[in-house]
Amino acid sequence: MPLTVITADITQLALDAIVNAANPGLLGGDGVDGAIHRAAGPALAQACLALPQTRPGVRCPTGEARITPGFGLPARHVIHVVGPVWHGGEHGEPELLASCYRQALHLLRAHHLQRIAFPAISCGVYGYPAARAAAVVARTLDDELRHDDSLDVVLCCYSEAMQATFQRAVNAV
Ligand code: APR
Repeated sequence: MPLTVITADITQLALDAIVNAANPGLLGGDGVDGAIHRAAGPALAQACLALPQTRPGVRCPTGEARITPGFGLPARHVIHVVGPVWHGGEHGEPELLASCYRQALHLLRAHHLQRIAFPAISCGVYGYPAARAAAVVARTLDDELRHDDSLDVVLCCYSEAMQATFQRAVNAV
């Protein structure tokens, strides 16, 4: 499976696309969202602002994805997804998390792109337990990539502990 797990700052990766763990307004925040907006420069927020709202203040509902250019980033595009906030696991969190990864890959293919890096969506501010998220991600990507070796997918963790958690989950599929 063309899937690797690394520890890195996702803003440094020169791929076709990096994924942002955003919020529904898409105008920036803390964590990886803040890092991506800082590295891309203010044109990224302008591009997000230009995306249509599905309802007031919502440019990307939870579980969905939107694409913009990467502007000042080494990556050519940013695919913004909104992961679920963890509410105990019985509120559709696994399905919404899987949907982020599926929709991001769908956009990647639709734009004829191949190389993408994901951060650990929902595993920071949104509170998704890392091992449970990693199990969902590993199953989802195994399913997506099983019959498609054209994509090159990187799971970009921000600590070696997180990398170990995601690598264990990938190995277990
Ligand atoms: N590169 C890679 N990973 C990073 C980076 C970075 N530069 N910075 C942070 N991370 C990691 C965090 O350590 C965490 O494991 O990204 C993972 C996701 O954490 P968050 O960024 O907090 O994302 P999430 O849990 O999905 O919460 C989204 O946070 O600020 C916001 O606007 C964002 O409201 C939204 C919420």
